[in-house]
Amino acid sequence: MPAIIVVGSAWGDEGKGKITDFLAQDADLVVRYQGGDNAGHTIVFDQKKFALRSIPSGIFDAKKLAIIANGVVFNPESVLKELAYLHDNGVSTNGLRISNRAQVLFSYHKRLDELQEAAKGDAKIGTTKNGIGPAYVDKYSRVGIRVCDLLDKDVLRARLEANLIEKNAILTKVYGAEPFDAARLTEEYYAYGQTLAPFVTDTSAVIEEALNSGKRVLFEGAQGVMLDIDHGTYPYVTSSNPIGGGATVGAGVGPTRIDEVVGIAKAYTSRVGEGPFPTELFEGVGDQIRDIAHEYGVNTGRPRRIGWFDSVAMRHAARVSGLTKLSVNCLDVLSGLGSLKICVAYELDGKRIETYPASVADFTRLTPLYEELPGWDEDITGVTSFEDLPENAQHYLTRLSELVGVELFSFAVGPEREATHILEKLW
Ligand code: GDP
Ligand code: IMO
Ligand code: MG
Repeated sequence: MPAIIVVGSAWGDEGKGKITDFLAQDADLVVRYQGGDNAGHTIVFDQKKFALRSIPSGIFDAKKLAIIANGVVFNPESVLKELAYLHDNGVSTNGLRISNRAQVLFSYHKRLDELQEAAKGDAKIGTTKNGIGPAYVDKYSRVGIRVCDLLDKDVLRARLEANLIEKNAILTKVYGAEPFDAARLTEEYYAYGQTLAPFVTDTSAVIEEALNSGKRVLFEGAQGVMLDIDHGTYPYVTSSNPIGGGATVGAGVGPTRIDEVVGIAKAYTSRVGEGPFPTELFEGVGDQIRDIAHEYGVNTGRPRRIGWFDSVAMRHAARVSGLTKLSVNCLDVLSGLGSLKICVAYELDGKRIETYPASVADFTRLTPLYEELPGWDEDITGVTSFEDLPENAQHYLTRLSELVGVELFSFAVGPEREATHILEKLW
């Protein structure tokens, strides 16, 4: 099984970093295929905890390649900080490779994101304010500047000068903000490019060569299906395609090369930022789960919204991503909460629906329909196999998998690498 994609199945923060790190133990290459430093992926092993943003969760083994592929919006300043953080913690980053085709995220993208969010007032998306949307806008407007352009000072200066005519007009005239200086940005970003140049290559070719020689390639998604620009809760989404298919576009591999697509979920649901969240819990159990699981954003520190497991959203995720396996994290968090609810369908205008509505307007009139399952009180953090889980926990997992229609691959009872337990090996 040489190629596996790890996909967030909900609104992000499902524990993708943790499962990527787990599967990466047997991988040769780990590839990030979309998003940027809006991601925060937590990895815990040997009593150490790391939080990664743009660098793939395979960086901890110097023998592997950790690839930032073409689909990522690449913020060099932020990646250099991340590299320094890893070096400070004794991690070698020699295995890093950066696609020459990745779009560069500049400081003006970040500034525009902040200003656009502030201008939206109550209608804000609740972005991470890292400039992700504006950087992807430039990509699709075909004015983006790519990593290969960072390495040629004349090209970089010419493109920055051309882009800043419009950007500065928007910054100053629409928002009354300060303009950016092309000459200064050229110096700053050319210097980043020079530092990062040894890592820059055609990563699609590197991946193909690895696959052709029988190596194992793991693709790591950021965000989640419900934040996907096409398939998520638009417009309350991110600006890329976290779905399984996003890996083929975002890494430059054909869909025929992919063997498994593993959907990552929590045993409940969480969401940061604005937008529909049908199973949201506003107090009581929601607060309890947030406290037990420390549900606060890795980078932004924002409290995460919490809700019951939503099998309607998960079936949607399974369909649009072609999930072949399901990983359920944070089962330990549900211990002692009493009976547990799973959303099985919605009611909209008096009708039962089992598919996820496209229009956010529908969510104001929608009620989730629940199935209630008995919980368990035992501390399960030491459990190492499915059979050793309390019967009700086994039943809960089996029911989730049945409702989503995807085979259970793993469950986890803690944030550590060792707390992930698989039902069968994928490679
Ligand atoms: P990602 O963005 O999908 O990689 O997920 P994040 O790292 O943003 O958020 C997941 C959070 O849940 C992190 O704080 C993890 O350490 C934590 N976590 C992951 N798996 C488990 C688990 O099985 N149990 C508990 N209690 N916490 C977990
Ligand atoms: P990981 O990879 C959770 C959310 C933001 C906001 C929306 C758009 O750690 O799961 P953006 O900055 O992308 O324009 O924000 O998407 N968001 C995430 N939520 N986890 C993430 O990444 C997220 N990345 C973006 O909160 O609602
Ligand atoms: Mg996260």
